[in-house]
Amino acid sequence: MTAPRAFGWRLPELRTPPPGPASCALADRLRAVESRNVTYLADDWPIFWQEAAGANVRDADGNVYIDLCAGFGVALLGHSHPSVVAAITEQARRLVHGMGDVHPPSLRVELLERLRDLSPWRDARAVLASTGSEAVEIALKTAQLATGKPGVLAFEGGYHGLTLGSLATTARSTFRGPFNARLYPGVAFAPYPQAGPGAEAAVDAAFARIRALLRDGAPNGDAIGAVVVEPVQGRAGACVPAPGFMGALSALAREADALVIADEILTGMGRCGAMLASERVGLEPDLVCVGKALGGGLPLSACIAPRAVMDAWPPSEGEAVHTSTFLGHPLACAAALAALDRYGPESVLARSEALGTRLREGLSEGLAGRLSPGGGVRQVRGLGLLVGIELATDGPAPGASVAGEALKRGVIVLPAGEQGEVVELTPSVALTDEQADHAVEVLVKAIGEVV
Ligand SMILES: Cc1ncc(COP(=O)(O)O)c(C=O)c1O
Repeated sequence: MTAPRAFGWRLPELRTPPPGPASCALADRLRAVESRNVTYLADDWPIFWQEAAGANVRDADGNVYIDLCAGFGVALLGHSHPSVVAAITEQARRLVHGMGDVHPPSLRVELLERLRDLSPWRDARAVLASTGSEAVEIALKTAQLATGKPGVLAFEGGYHGLTLGSLATTARSTFRGPFNARLYPGVAFAPYPQAGPGAEAAVDAAFARIRALLRDGAPNGDAIGAVVVEPVQGRAGACVPAPGFMGALSALAREADALVIADEILTGMGRCGAMLASERVGLEPDLVCVGKALGGGLPLSACIAPRAVMDAWPPSEGEAVHTSTFLGHPLACAAALAALDRYGPESVLARSEALGTRLREGLSEGLAGRLSPGGGVRQVRGLGLLVGIELATDGPAPGASVAGEALKRGVIVLPAGEQGEVVELTPSVALTDEQADHAVEVLVKAIGEVV
């Protein structure tokens, strides 16, 4: 008899069909107190999380799931990694909150040194923040100060956050629509050419538009000083760029005196098999934004750039022009330092690559019969542990229906893509081969129910 696996490394164990009675009761209470925009509440969604470790989540009804999302990509090392938990606990005994930009917690120095070391620049300088959107805001402000040109080139499908500055660069109309009047009009969008069939023609079309925008400026006439791009698009559905595109984009931006902002908030820290995914796709950034997995589970983000770029900011004379109350929060710094000790070793990068390949191969094999024209599945794609399954879009948001079917079978995934046509996986490196293979079987069945 084999010993039962510890929580974290288990296959799904469902005591009640999810969502069970405890989750449903919590949903009723939530409905009464939270803005209705925030949580999607339906008869079959959501489950309420109570505990998580490794690649497992336990809900309020005691059901155990395999989490293929790692909580929006944050738990890249696995939920509640013991060394991160120990670092947070230890730090909480000493100093929970510091004094941001005034009297810095000493840990912040160590973290900034580590960020410099993982960046492409030996003289890197960084600004810390709490969320990905804030890091993007800082990058956009920095680029404007450095170039004197406020215009921005962003990409169709791109997602850079929902605060007003970052939202102006996020492409999706559902997020922008109600707030269009508040969004900076100097952002122009270009197509994001994907790897795969038709890539060459897509690259040519994208460059025709990019050249024109860099030459003529944004539609409101503002000159373009920043190009903001995801090395692999996440929320668009794990879209991998066409080979050579990112290198040529970097060169064109350089010629036009525009700075390239790599939004590595989802792709950074090893998710795509390298510490920064830019390396893998040939993007040469002038600024890098990291977040999500950086804090090992606590809210932390950063905008990093070489000194020549970051020194576009004036020296502080007592009032920082950009700062925030929780900047360099000691608990988040401690968690990030512990997490960075784990991300650094090659083993995490290698696991990310190997597990991503295993998932993509397993899915391609399991879905082989459906991967033909009319078969319902268009493509299985991705890089490292950012994996997307693109479905045909006949029904409304098929990705969400698959997520619902998978949840019933104990696997957590999310839809992605403009039309919700993608099932997206951003699991943790803690996912075991056994869990991965089981999850693939579940997804193949769930997709079979929908397409
Ligand atoms: C590429 C990218 N940029 C920015 C963000 C925004 O980060 P946050 O939600 O922490 O503000 C996200 C979040 O999903 C993201 O994936």
